[in-house]
Amino acid sequence: MTREQVLEKLRHLHDPVYRISMVELNLIKDIMVKEGGVAMSVVLSSDEEERKDELRRQIEETLGKEGIADVHIRFRAMSDYERTEISKRTNPQPEPAKPTPTNLLGAESKTTFIAVASGKGGVGKSTVAVNLAVALARKGKKVGIIDADIYGFSVPDMMGIEERPELVDQLIRPVERFGVKIISMGFFVQDNAPVIWRGPMLGKMLRNFFNEVEWGEIDYMVLDLPPGTGDVALDVHQMIPQSKEIIVTTPHATAAFVAARAGAMAVHTNHEIIGVVENMAYYSCGQCGHKDYVFGRGGGAKLADELHTQLLAQIPLGAPDNHPAEPDYSPSIYRADTEAGGMYLEVADAVIRRCEQ
Ligand SMILES: Nc1ncnc2c1ncn2[C@@H]1O[C@H](COP(=O)(O)OP(=O)(O)OP(=O)(O)O)[C@@H](O)[C@H]1O
Ligand SMILES: [Mg+2]
Repeated sequence: MTREQVLEKLRHLHDPVYRISMVELNLIKDIMVKEGGVAMSVVLSSDEEERKDELRRQIEETLGKEGIADVHIRFRAMSDYERTEISKRTNPQPEPAKPTPTNLLGAESKTTFIAVASGKGGVGKSTVAVNLAVALARKGKKVGIIDADIYGFSVPDMMGIEERPELVDQLIRPVERFGVKIISMGFFVQDNAPVIWRGPMLGKMLRNFFNEVEWGEIDYMVLDLPPGTGDVALDVHQMIPQSKEIIVTTPHATAAFVAARAGAMAVHTNHEIIGVVENMAYYSCGQCGHKDYVFGRGGGAKLADELHTQLLAQIPLGAPDNHPAEPDYSPSIYRADTEAGGMYLEVADAVIRRCEQ
């Protein structure tokens, strides 16, 4: 018999780990055919004694039928090197699969984007954004919020978030609070250090917030924009041409006038304006319920009129009456059973009606 013939006869021996022929795996080696006998080495992928006995019996039986009485077998365990080589051959290792991020911006996306904008700072954009997001979640929607205010991020603090997102399979898993998935530059900044990036990097960061984050399914993605009509606002306009917009203003005529510029930008970039929220609309006296219009009156309605849209709400002055001791404390989210909380639920209803008609 030749070496090849011996191998051919032993082809039926299967390796228990790889489940294919040991001959194919090149585990039967150093075959020496001599007068009336054969010597060989057998490499074992697993080293149980019984397996050696069983293999010896099978080989002796097979070769015995061919008239070879003297079979000498040396067993040895598979080396690590052999194991990796075999693994490469038998089970070609694919590139570590990156979970496909949900393409929120793709043509197939069912996500409605709502950018919250204003003409100037400090009118309550972030307050409106976080409370609208939470209200939509309270209405049973799957909601995300992107704090697109890269320099002036405030969403994590406003929602009382202290944890950071986890990295899972190369994707950032957003922090979840009140049923809303949240991503913010604030999660990636150490000790409130200032962010000192320039224009092009801002756009890149914003893009990462979409592409590198494990959003899953999202019905409504709220974007808290930085104030005014600067770079990021423009980036958002370009990145999400289908975004809808809510403009926030205070009731003062000049504030509304400035807010109109944000509105004009939305119109210019074809973002559909779905409404105006007038924030800090009045102060309601806790004793007698009298409304004091401390910041003027009518700005919201006037702006809505100018932008041919509706006035969604007039939110009174007054911070949420939450207590730091309570679980899930947040400084800026109104409870659903408060006056402002109820108003935000109505805004959510109006948004849903408008977007799902
Ligand atoms: N209705 C309200 N009553 C009382 N305080 C409010 C109200 N709305 C917002 N505030 C407070 O006013 C401040 C500014 O609000 P907020 O940060 O939401 O505004 P912003 O427009 O996002 O500001 P920026 O332009 O800096 O991003 C915050 O301290 C917030 O808690
Ligand atoms: Mg803000």
